[in-house]
Formats: sequence, C-alpha cells, structure tokens
Amino acid sequence: MTSALLQKAREYEEHYGAYISDAARPAFHLSPRVGWMNDPNGFCFYKGQYHLFYQYHPYSTKWGPMHWGHAVSRDLLRWEYLPAALAPDEAYDDAGCFSGSALELPDGRHLLMYTGVRSHMDEDGVRRDLQTQCLAVGDGLNYEKLPSNPVIAGDGIPEGFSVHDFRDPKIFRNADGSYGCVVGCRTQDGSGAILLFESKNAFDWRFVTVLDRCWNEYGRMWECPDFFELDGKQILMTSPQDMSAVGLEFHNGDCTMFLLGDYDPAAHVFDRQAVQAVDYGLDFYAPQTLLAPDGRRIVAGWMQNWDTCVSGPEDKWFGQVTLPRELTIRDGRVVQNPVRELAALHGRRVSYSDIPVQEELTLRGVYGRTIDMTVTVRPRSECGYTNFRMKVAAGSQHYTSITYTPLTSTLRVSRDHSGTNRDFVHVRECFVRDRGGEIKLRVILDRFSAEIFVNDGEQAVTLTFHTPLSADGISFQSQGKTVINVEKYDIVADK
Ligand code: FRU
Repeated sequence: MTSALLQKAREYEEHYGAYISDAARPAFHLSPRVGWMNDPNGFCFYKGQYHLFYQYHPYSTKWGPMHWGHAVSRDLLRWEYLPAALAPDEAYDDAGCFSGSALELPDGRHLLMYTGVRSHMDEDGVRRDLQTQCLAVGDGLNYEKLPSNPVIAGDGIPEGFSVHDFRDPKIFRNADGSYGCVVGCRTQDGSGAILLFESKNAFDWRFVTVLDRCWNEYGRMWECPDFFELDGKQILMTSPQDMSAVGLEFHNGDCTMFLLGDYDPAAHVFDRQAVQAVDYGLDFYAPQTLLAPDGRRIVAGWMQNWDTCVSGPEDKWFGQVTLPRELTIRDGRVVQNPVRELAALHGRRVSYSDIPVQEELTLRGVYGRTIDMTVTVRPRSECGYTNFRMKVAAGSQHYTSITYTPLTSTLRVSRDHSGTNRDFVHVRECFVRDRGGEIKLRVILDRFSAEIFVNDGEQAVTLTFHTPLSADGISFQSQGKTVINVEKYDIVADK
C-alpha cells in the first residue's frame, strides 16, 4: 500500500518535475526529478534494466527528510524517472530513509535495504536519532516495507558501537547463495568501522565481524561502504567524513577511498594492503557499485561535496550522479573509465593530430558542453615544457581550467572563473604518473560538470560548475612548447 506521505511525494514530483525542461538539466547524468538529491542508492540490474535510486528531498533544493527517488535506464546514461520508491512514513524511519542498496531475490522480487532513522531526543535535550537497517520488497516500481523492520538494530551490533551512527547497508549475494551486508558504524574512539553481517535468506541477519576500522587515521565516521572482488583483489570502498588532508591523496572534509586487500571468506578476515582515493576532484562522494550482467564492476557517486552545496532561490533541482564508471585493477591500483555504453551516444567527431601549442589557441569544431574529448599532450622539444593548460566551458568571462605541470607531475583543476560567486574551495590538485611530459586527458562535459580521466583512468577528477551554457569554448595553451592530438565527439543523448 502506498502511504499518504509517499503518495504526496509522487504527486508533487510529477507535477513540479514537469516544469523542469530537459535543457536545464544534465543530458546524460541523472539529476533529481525535482528538488534535492544526494547519494546514489540501490544501484543494481533488475529485470532487464539498471535501477538507480537516490537520497531525495523533493520539496526543496536543500537536504530534508530523506525519501528514495527512482530512475531506470538500459544504458546507464539515459535515465527515465519512476515514482519515488520510499518515504519516511514509519515510526522507525520518521526522520528519513537513509542510504542503502538493492538486489534481486531468487523468487524475482526486488529487495531494498536502507537505514531507517528514528527521531529521538535525549534527556539532555540533544537530538540523537537512532539508526537501524530496514527492508522493503517490491516489483521494481512499488515497494512494501517489511512488518519485521528494523531487521538489524542496536541489539545486533557489538558493545561500544553506536546506534546513532550506524548506516548505509550494502547488500550482496555470496557465491554459496547466502547474503552479506556491510554497514558503516561509529566506534568508541569516535571514528568509523565497517561491520559485516550475514544472512541465509536476506531477511534474518546476524553480526559476523568488524572488517576494518578507521582508528582516527582516515577521517572519522566511515559512510556508505561497499565490499567487492575486483580482478583478484578485494576492495572495501567507503566515504570518510572529517578527513584531514593527506598530501594530495586526500583533501580536508568528506573524502572517498578504496581499501585494497585480500579477503579470507572462511575466517571473515580482510587484510588491507593499500589505500587510494576514488576521485581526485572537487565533487565526488558516497559512491556505490553494481555488478553488471556481463561481469563489469561499475561505480557511480554523488557528483557533489557536502561542504559546497549551495542552490539559488530559482533552482528547481540540485545534485547529480556521476557517469557510471567501469573499475579494473592495473599495476596494483584501481582504474576507472566511463562505461563503454557512452560510445553509442557519440555524435559528430572532430579530430586533430600533431598540433603545436604555445600561445592560447582554439581549434575549429572543438567546443561544446556535452562532449567526450581526448587530448594527448607531449613536449615538442627536448627542453620539455613548464605547463599545459586547457580551458573548457569558456566564454568571454568564464572558464574552468585543467593544468598539467610535468615538473611536479601534478594536475590542477580550477573553477575559480567558472561564474561562481561563492568563496569556497574551487581548486584541487593531484599527482599523476609522469611519462616524460606526456599525458592523456579524457574530458567529459555534460553542461554543468567535467569528469577528467587521466592516462586511461589512472585518476578520475570530477567537478561541477554553474557556468552559463553559452560559454562553450575550449582552448589550449602551454608555457614551453607542446604538441597535442585532439579527438572530440559531441554526445547526443536523445539518440
Ligand atoms: C552520505 C550520507 C549517508 C546517509 C545519507 C543521508 O552522504 O550522510 O551516510 O545515509 O547521506 O542523506
């Protein structure tokens, strides 16, 4: 049965969502049907389609009591909205249906697992909401919350772990047909840990072990965990809050990381061997993966950063999901590349080879705000070059810059001049692998965002900007002499 609260959200989004024109949204990235979006949720393949749910507050462009928005796609790029799937309509989730995940049950039903947040005020007047894990089953369109909810509550976790920060279940099926689930939780030392639960039927859960802990080393609370095998390694992915910058690997605030290691499933022991940021840009958080029917492990994140969420009074939507990206391991690192489905949306192609660059130059046909462009840069002489700079979303007053400095092997993105009038972080730098001054940059623009894949996915660098769409120029410039190849495709999302 659809509750009055869910019905209200569905009517609201249908009515007000219709006022948002397609041209005012990203063309091939999911944005909320109306209002606010944060984390991607329930990312999965179910009955012939990809489903992507999201943390959703339809009634404003600010975070509020969390619902789950819902969309489906056959190619991970062109999304069709379905009615909102969950509303905070039960006593155990009256303060919000927080992040979670989904899978198909053997009987064909679709199972959603999410964090129910119950509003709670302690005697001292401090609000300390209670977080539990809850289930809903459905048919890909409508979902019923289980009468047995919550299925994992405070009595199911070890002593010293906090029921006030216990969230974001990621559910998966094991090879033997049983189920596992990882959940983020805060421990006695105030920092995060990832708890593993197991179940024979996906309905009755029991605590198994603490897979890994933060020990106040990588941020504080660890949110939105995911746990999967990739090319023979085991990856624990999580989003730490309150990070203190670590070199150029992790910046202050909310970060994301891959913990790479080995896993002994019989002993339930995860042996962490390496740590790596998921994305090195300004706007990326709370990623989640799915396993595609063809075996690809695909990740998508919230293309935003909590500390820089600013919407104007006129805005009708806020928040986007990144391009889904294929994950692989190369040379001991996780590598990301846009899903191959993107090639099917390629429109007009423009390409140039061996173009000498020094003074700022533009190339005929190389412009646009919905494009997939690969630029390879190399030094033109043995003296090398000091830096190479590309401007995108450029107009007479605006641009976003991408600069490579071979001497320090750093890539720097800046949206300082993108038209922002906010004084928050607009610049990010990361290390890339130097190959004698050569670098390959694949830049994907979708109206209000840029995703840069460096050297075939060794780094992903994501940022959003609010530059007027008329600023669609692209230019190249170098201090010292470079030579570039450019291949650019327009993306035609209504193909
Ligand atoms: C991450 C997060 C999750 C939580 C959700 C609430 O961005 O804080 O931990 O479930 O957002 O909207």
